[in-house]
Amino acid sequence: MTEKIIVHAPAKINLFLHVIGKRTDGYHLLDSLVVFTEYGDVIEVEESDDLSLIVSGAYANSLSAIRPENNLVWKAALTLQKYTRERKAATIRLTKNLPLASGIGGGSADAAATIKALTKLWKLNLPNEELYKIALELGSDVPICLYGEPALMRGIGDDITPVELTEPAYIVLINPNILLATAEVFQSFSSKTQRKSVAHIDSFSGLTDEFGYGNDLEEAAISKLPIIAKMLDSLRTTKSCFIARMSGSGATCFALYHDKQASENALKELQKIYPQAWCVATHIL
Ligand code: C5P
Repeated sequence: MTEKIIVHAPAKINLFLHVIGKRTDGYHLLDSLVVFTEYGDVIEVEESDDLSLIVSGAYANSLSAIRPENNLVWKAALTLQKYTRERKAATIRLTKNLPLASGIGGGSADAAATIKALTKLWKLNLPNEELYKIALELGSDVPICLYGEPALMRGIGDDITPVELTEPAYIVLINPNILLATAEVFQSFSSKTQRKSVAHIDSFSGLTDEFGYGNDLEEAAISKLPIIAKMLDSLRTTKSCFIARMSGSGATCFALYHDKQASENALKELQKIYPQAWCVATHIL
């Protein structure tokens, strides 16, 4: 029987995202607290004679519109294949539950899960440093997705500091089902405040706007997609929500709750207001 390896590719949430500078190559320097949710995509790999990718799930059709050379799972697999002695192959199955180009790192999580699954399947003994280098070449969010636990992400995604968050938190995610390209949001971003890097975090509760936390890309994303502002307002008014914010470069917005029932009630409310949107209630890992 052939070995099958299954790796979850959780959604990545930027609980706050501060832009603290810009490099000469145009990339922005970030300071962001990243966490992961129970809800996500799934990668399954098994050895085979050819390298192939089979996609299923709610967003499989949207992904099929992307050329294979731009598919991060495919790119990750081709990169790793170069490290195998006799060019090993695999059948990769991706269950695409997360919306594309949505600020919750779906593609990055899939790429990171592919790296984890294929290094195990092909018994590649690559040092961590090499794996993180491969991840960063695939995209700025791939290293943090490879890390996969709560962390402060700095630089352009290459500087990761673990964070201990012990309290449970429930989250509702909403996306208007409209793609928003990361590059376009960063292009529209103009900095207004001089941000300082956050030194230390140990709870969700203090991450509110009044303590100066936010997502600096919200304004730029709203200028491209005004429905984001409306969705943020709707999230804020749900009962017991203690933070409502956009994740990454959008358009997905989230709200946090201390108890599960409150998040499930909020989900029902939002589904009524936005029947066309993608909306889920899940919890932070
Ligand atoms: O690395 P990734 O492919 O996700 O980035 C997409 C685009 O977003 C980059 O080409 C760049 O224009 C912009 N970006 C940025 N600063 C970052 C990350 C991304 O300006 N830290």
